[in-house]
Amino acid sequence: MAGRVIAIDGPAASGKSSVARSVASTLGFLFVSSGHFYRALAWGTVIESIPDEALNDWLMSRHLGVEEKENSISLLLDGKDATSHLSDPEVAAKVSQIASFPCMRDFVNSRLHALAEERDLVMEGRDIGSVVFPDTPWKFYLDASPEERARRRAREGDVDPIAERDRLDSTRVTAPLVIPEGSDVIDTTRMTLEQVVDVVISRLGNLQPSNP
Ligand code: DC
Repeated sequence: MAGRVIAIDGPAASGKSSVARSVASTLGFLFVSSGHFYRALAWGTVIESIPDEALNDWLMSRHLGVEEKENSISLLLDGKDATSHLSDPEVAAKVSQIASFPCMRDFVNSRLHALAEERDLVMEGRDIGSVVFPDTPWKFYLDASPEERARRRAREGDVDPIAERDRLDSTRVTAPLVIPEGSDVIDTTRMTLEQVVDVVISRLGNLQPSNP
């Protein structure tokens, strides 16, 4: 039987990852960042210097493995752990462009669907409630002011061109960032992480935790 999916979408640094991780741990669901899939692939194209016109062929011979660790996953690109490279500045600079290619989106979405066949998931991204799992009844869209999001990234010490990524993520033709129909919109600008998690958990009502 397919698992349940809680979809959490929103722009960069809106708090999605921290909230999704915490909700997943509360419910015993698996936390999945769909952005990590795009980042792992972007990392591969950076280290192998793959030009855009060769992306399709390159992708066909890639293996992106998923390893479950506690309530989360690690990604192995052709057997190499991508984890420590996901926030590399070159990856952050390239990932939105990589994610705009339909072949990349098909590749990632097939892996996200496969995960949901096995496990209950809290999955965060840009198109989870709109495109990847449009039928899930549990959809959230987190937002925060651009200033607050820039402050959060700076506090994390990340070099991340979020304004440019927002522009690319929202204006691309395939699966742009939108507020998914039926989603619960939460402005996290003046909220603590704990407050946002409490709101999400309370709006999930009587959703039962995963069986251990
Ligand atoms: O959530 P993140 O910052 O790790 O995502 C990195 C990039 O991946 C983001 O700029 C756009 C892309 N992305 C996407 O297009 N669709 C998703 N579901 C998740 C991420």
